This record gives sequence, C-alpha cells and structure tokens, in this order.
Amino acid sequence: MKKKFRIKTFGCQMNVHDSEKIAGIFADSGYEESEKGRRPDVIVLNTCSIREKAEQKFYSDLGRLKSAKRDNPELKIAVAGCIAQQAGEKIMKKFPHVDYIFGPNNIDKLQNWIDGNSSKSSIEDNPLYHTQDLPMKREGGVKAWVSIMYGCDNFCAYCIVPYTRGRERSRPHEQIISEVNNVVEAGCKEITLLGQNVNSYGKGMQDNVNFPALLQRIHDSTSIERIRFVTSHPKDLSDELIEVMRAFPRVCEHMHLPLQAGSDKVLALMNRAYTYQEYKDKVEKLRDAIPGVAVTSDIIAGFPGETDDDFRFTMKALEEIRFDGIFSFKYSKRPGTRALDLPDHIDEEVKSERLSEILRLQEVVSAQKNKEIEGDIVEILVEGCSGADTEKLTGRTRTNKIVNYSGDKSDVGKLIKVRILESRQYSLNGEKL
Ligand code: 5AD
Ligand code: SF4
Repeated sequence: MKKKFRIKTFGCQMNVHDSEKIAGIFADSGYEESEKGRRPDVIVLNTCSIREKAEQKFYSDLGRLKSAKRDNPELKIAVAGCIAQQAGEKIMKKFPHVDYIFGPNNIDKLQNWIDGNSSKSSIEDNPLYHTQDLPMKREGGVKAWVSIMYGCDNFCAYCIVPYTRGRERSRPHEQIISEVNNVVEAGCKEITLLGQNVNSYGKGMQDNVNFPALLQRIHDSTSIERIRFVTSHPKDLSDELIEVMRAFPRVCEHMHLPLQAGSDKVLALMNRAYTYQEYKDKVEKLRDAIPGVAVTSDIIAGFPGETDDDFRFTMKALEEIRFDGIFSFKYSKRPGTRALDLPDHIDEEVKSERLSEILRLQEVVSAQKNKEIEGDIVEILVEGCSGADTEKLTGRTRTNKIVNYSGDKSDVGKLIKVRILESRQYSLNGEKL
C-alpha cells in the first residue's frame, strides 16, 4: 500500500502554492494524499508568520500533534514555511516530536529527507532558489498559480516577509513561459502570476524584461486564456503596466493594490514610499484607462503612532476610492521588524474598534459596487460546483467576483457569458445566456 501524506497550509497564496510544490514532491516519491479521517504517515505543517494569529494557530496545532505521535511513533512530522525559516532549530529543541524543518527557499531539499538522506533541518538562505525543476501537484484543473519572483526588498516597517523569504529575485522569463505552456497543455484556462511585488519583476536581470514586457510575452507566446497577477506595489505601478492591461485582452481587469493606510504620516512610518494623493492618482489613471477595472486592497488598522485623525484619513480613503473589496488586519508585532521599535503602539481594544469600523464601511461599499453591476452581461470562467449548493455552478468574472448560476457540470473549465441577476454580500447570482 502506498504511504500517505497530509499537508496543512497556513497563510497566504504564496504558501498555498508552496504546498502544491511540496505535494508534488511527495507524489513523485510514490506517496498519496491521505483522505480525511485516515491516519497519514507524514504530516507537513506549512507555516505563515505574517501575523501573530497564524503563528499561534500553528503552535497550538503542533502541540496537539504530540499525542498523535505518542499514539503512532512511526508518524513523521515536518514543519515548512516562514516560521520554520525564522524559528528553525528553536522549534526542534522545544518540540522534539518534529522530525524535519525546511524553509520556503529549500523545498527542493524535501526529496532528500523523504529518501532518508538528510539532516533534521534545511533552512539555509538560498538566494538562487528557483523551483523550475520541481514536480508540482496543482489543485483544481482550471486555474494555476505561477511564481514569477521570490522574496521582497521593500522592508515595509511592519512586515516580516523580507526576513523570511529573503531578497527579491526574479525567475528567468523563459522558465515562466515554459511553465505557462505546461499548465495550458494540462487544461488550465487561467493563471495567476505570483510574487510579493510583481511590478518590480526583472529588477537586476540582464535581459531587460520588466513586468509589462513579461505580460506581453506570456500573451504572445502562450494560449492561456486569462492572465492575473498579485501583488502590486503602488510605488512600482507604471503607466506602461496600465497600457499593457488596457491593450492585451487576455490580461484581466483586476488589480490588488495594497494601500495599507490613508494618512501620509503613517505611510511614511510604514516605509511605503508613496503618499495617499499619489496612490489615488494612480488608481484614477487605471480606472480612466480600463473601464470597469476592479481595484482591491489591504488595510492595516492601528499601526504604531496612528492617531484618531490618522485613522479618519484611512476611512476617508475607503470612501473616496471605493475599493471592490479589501483585506483588513489589526497591526501585529513581528519580531525583527522596524515597527517594533516605533513609539506609541496602539491598544488592542482600539485596534479592534478601528478594524470593525473599516469592515463595516467596506461592507456597504462592496454591496453598492456589486449592486452597480446587476443586469450586466459578463464573462465568467466556470470553476466547479458551488460549495453551498451542489445544484449550482460557480465561476469568477474577469474582475475576480464570484458568480453562482444554475447550469450543467459540462460547463466546468469553459468561459461563458452570464447576466448578473442579483448581488449578495460576497457573491453574485447570475443566469447563463
Ligand atoms: N500586521 C498586520 N498586517 C500585516 N500585513 C503584513 N504584515 C502585517 C503585520 N505585521 C498585511 C499587509 C500586507 C498583507 C499581505 O498582510 O496589509 O499587504
Ligand atoms: Fe511585506 Fe512590504 Fe514586501 Fe509586501 S512589499 S511583502 S508588505 S515588505
């Protein structure tokens, strides 16, 4: 019987994609994914350290695995991801039931461990790390993620990513194109290009292919039907990128553009390298060039030094810009980051109140925005059955909004036209045309 593995993923899309790489290595070594309720032979916890909450969740899960190991001493436990990178050997010492630790820049070493030829940890900083030759077990057949760059050089004052994922480095464009061609061949219709700051793709590379040029090449040299990308840093959003989004029909009309805060004082403390006005001007340009483009954002509540007045600027920004959707978080202290040493940290209670106020306002704005497209005819890529209602199918618009409709399973993987009938809080109901 084949051995079984299970991966638990914490955190962001980057991690979900890393888990696909980890799953690919297990599958290549003859393992299969363990079904729910079955006891796996190996458990991998793929950790996230971006906020304290995700970290706490991991430590409580890891604590619980102690008894699983007591019941089954053959069980192997591996810890991957950003906490593994940062806490490394400390985890080994504190949790002797962990068998192996590997960082996000060492996924390729997992094979050696599976083969029994490895020490207990692989967490070297590997600046040349690329994953081109790794097998990959992708979730779902319709959409795929493709990494185009790793790491980040921006050092936003609150953020741990530059310390866990290392310096920014781009993958050669030939590798990216060949991976896109592979996923097209496997039946994928949509790719999302992944990186912490995709707009600065190509920095330090010799062949002068920047991000807009990369989009153009993917558009010209592959037949992928939809191209998306995350995440964009406002300071690097160029006119050239807006022009490529406008001119190339397979690049989707959606940009995730984290604002983080509406106060210039807070933006400067965060080391974001733009003012609110600069941000707003860029969004205006984008909206002028690409009618109907969706803009989504990330907002942090209660960064150190954020006064009530500063917070009002964030609320005003949400009212003025009217994002299609946001992710919002309470500021979370991260070890080793510059924000830790800033004065005037905000009380937890105040952070919570500000976060609720942000979410309440955004709920109204998102609902209004969804209402505005009722009656419109839009293209969706059908992804599968709707989770809640198996009679219904679900897909996403080019602007990344979820649409549910009644239809036949044979639609899955197709681009179809629907009319938006009704907007709900987090999705739209449509009818197939
Ligand atoms: N506290 C709160 N939110 C954070 N983010 C990153 N680091 C922190 C932190 N320390 C948020 C930012 C970023 C998103 C991925 O996570 O908004 O854009
Ligand atoms: Fe973190 Fe800023 Fe880099 Fe985003 S751009 S990963 S928030 S340091």
